[in-house]
Parts: sequence; structure tokens; C-alpha cells
Amino acid sequence: MTLIVPSLSLLLCHVTLSTAADYYFDFDDLTGLEDADSAGIDLQRYYNSTELDAFILKTVKSYPHLVRAETIGKSVQGRNLWAVEITHDVDSPDGRTLMKPMFKYVANMHGDETVGYALMVFLIQYLVLKDGKDDRITQLLNSTDIYIVPSINPDGFAAAKEGKCDSLDGYVGRKNAHGVDLNRNFPDQFEYEAKK
Ligand SMILES: *[C@@H]1O[C@H](CO)[C@@H](O)[C@H](O)[C@H]1NC(C)=O
Ligand SMILES: *[C@@H]1O[C@H](CO)[C@@H](O)[C@H](O)[C@H]1NC(C)=O
Repeated sequence: MTLIVPSLSLLLCHVTLSTAADYYFDFDDLTGLEDADSAGIDLQRYYNSTELDAFILKTVKSYPHLVRAETIGKSVQGRNLWAVEITHDVDSPDGRTLMKPMFKYVANMHGDETVGYALMVFLIQYLVLKDGKDDRITQLLNSTDIYIVPSINPDGFAAAKEGKCDSLDGYVGRKNAHGVDLNRNFPDQFEYEAKK
């Protein structure tokens, strides 16, 4: 079972989710776990932002010692930019444990590049369902503070069209709702965009 995807950035297009999921997830491995006290997400399809809100809130409620969520702001069109923290004793009164390494995943910066988004939703569910059942995951959550931002561009995701691996004309969904390409908007010593 391979869970951690080495190169999410290569998984750029809309693909049939079952194909992507079959490759990275062992479905049998999750059988039965959907009865656990989680949102029991459907691994075969993309979740819209309303469903993501519900999934995250339910997961936090079901796993209060393991999962904490906050929004790091709202998108241009008012969708939540969720950051989900998963680690043991996430609710400890001291806040985070000193020296515990932190790891951050951010997906879906180009809104129409959606596989990373779906994988982050799966990863949240996978981590909570496997904690205490799988030694590797238990150890991971005991020693690492994991932050997951499933979609940093939910407006682009909403605008994109499912079922096409090529971008739509005009790259609909790639940029945010202000027309900014978030993945070309980092400080860059080479000023690549500015020179074009
Ligand atoms: C999100 O998905 C739910 C469930 O399929 C659906 O009822 C709702 O209309 C969708 N929302 C949008 C904005 O598409
Ligand atoms: C979690 O880490 C602590 C400190 O390293 C260790 O004492 C404890 O046995 C670990 N628990 C699990 C379940 O791995």
C-alpha cells in the first residue's frame, strides 16, 4: 500500500477518480472502516466545497483529540480555505509539543488540477481511520504534526469541468477568481512572469 505520493504536482489533470485512487490506495484496506465514526467519504468522486465543509467539521467532531481545523481565510468567492491539523493530542492544553516536526501539504493551487485535492481528502480520512490500527500511521501521528490544506483555490476548482484531462479553453479554473495564477505568484529571483 503506497500512500504518500511523491510528486503530486505531476498529477495535473482531471482523471477518473477510481483510476487515481486504485493506484494509490488499496480499497480493500479501507473496507469496513467506512462504518467508523467519520464522514465515510466516497472515494470515487470529487467533493464540492459545501461537502468539504461538512466532511471536515464532522471529522473534527468525531476525532477531537486528533484533528483540528481552521480556515486560513476565504477565497475571493467566499469559500473556506481549510487547514486541517492531524496529530496526536492536537487538543493538548500546551498547544503543540515542542520540537515535534511539522509537515504541510497544500493542494489544488491550480483549481483545475484536482487530483491532489481529492488525495488530500482521502489522506485526512485515511489518517484518522488508521490511527491506532496501523502501527506506521500511529507512529507517524505520534511523532509528526501534519497540516493539510486540501484546496488553496476552491473557486478555480468550482469553475473547472470534470471529465477533461486537457485544460478548458482559456484555462478556466486554473487561476483564482481575481485572475491570478497562484502558482506563478511567488517571489521569484528570476522574475519569470515579469519578463514575459
Ligand atoms: C454540492 O454537492 C451536494 C451533494 O451532491 C449538492 O447537493 C450541492 O448542490 C452541491 N453544491 C454545489 C454548489 O454544486
Ligand atoms: C508516542 O511517543 C512517545 C514519546 O516518544 C512514546 O513514549 C510513546 O510510546 C509513543 N506512543 C506510541 C503509541 O507510539
